[in-house]
Formats: sequence, structure tokens, C-alpha cells
Amino acid sequence: MPKKILFVCLGNICRSPVAQGIAESMYPEIEFDSAGTGSWHTGEQPDKRSIEVCKKHNIDISHQRARPLRFTDPKEFDFIIGMDLQNIADIKKQIPEKYHYKVRMLDTSPITDPYYGGKDGFETMFQHIKKSIEKREIF
Ligand code: 4NP
Repeated sequence: MPKKILFVCLGNICRSPVAQGIAESMYPEIEFDSAGTGSWHTGEQPDKRSIEVCKKHNIDISHQRARPLRFTDPKEFDFIIGMDLQNIADIKKQIPEKYHYKVRMLDTSPITDPYYGGKDGFETMFQHIKKSIEKREIF
């Protein structure tokens, strides 16, 4: 069974922190982390709306801090899980080719970026991520 899994999105403040929080609550025997292909939000807490939607479902992600995807991550993690096709392409550009086999998309349908949308988008995102992690087809 894999021991370390990294969730990646664009900003590491909306989708991947939620994925990390949900996965940690479901699989305590596995170590999870999250990162962004962009570094604009490094050091920041997850988006308030992500913190809120997780809190509503009894998951605390407020301690998480955004960080960029690192060149060395693929060596350390068994799987690198992205949210949409653009995300997967960006991840592959940022890591050595020999580790591309570790990259997966969380679900066959993309996890829509809720950043620029309304609050409803965050609940939809939460449910989509939760369902995908419950299915556990990729790790
Ligand atoms: P995330 O959402 O990739 O789910 O964290 C985004 C957050 C911030 C930005 C884009 C996407 N941004 O451009 O700042």
C-alpha cells in the first residue's frame, strides 16, 4: 500500500487542500500533502470558502499552508494527483520525465476550479472530491 500521496492543484488554496483534508480524515494510515503548480499563494491559509466547506463537514484544514510543487516531490511521493487536464500538463512540465508515471488525475471528470465562482461551487467541489477519494481508484 502506498504511504505518501501528494494532491496538486493550481493555487494550492482551494481544491488540493480540501482533497488533503478529506483523504486524511478517511485514510489515517497514509501520509498526504498538497501543493500548487503556481506559487502566488505560498505560505497562505486555504481559501476561506474551502476552510468553511470542510468545517461544515467536520474537517479542519485551517492549519494547512500553501506551497509550490517541488522538483524533488516525485521522488518522495508514491502518487501525484492533479485536478484537471491543464493541471496534469503543468505538473508534468515541472517534474522530471522519469516520474510522469506517478501522475494521475483525481477523477476521470475534472474537478472544476471554484476560485472565481460562488459559494455553491465549493460544496460541489467538496462532494466531487469526496466521491473520487472514496472510490479510491488511483491509490
Ligand atoms: P486552486 O484554485 O487551484 O483550486 O487552489 C485557484 C486558486 C487561486 C488561483 C487560481 C486557482 N489564482 O489564480 O490565484
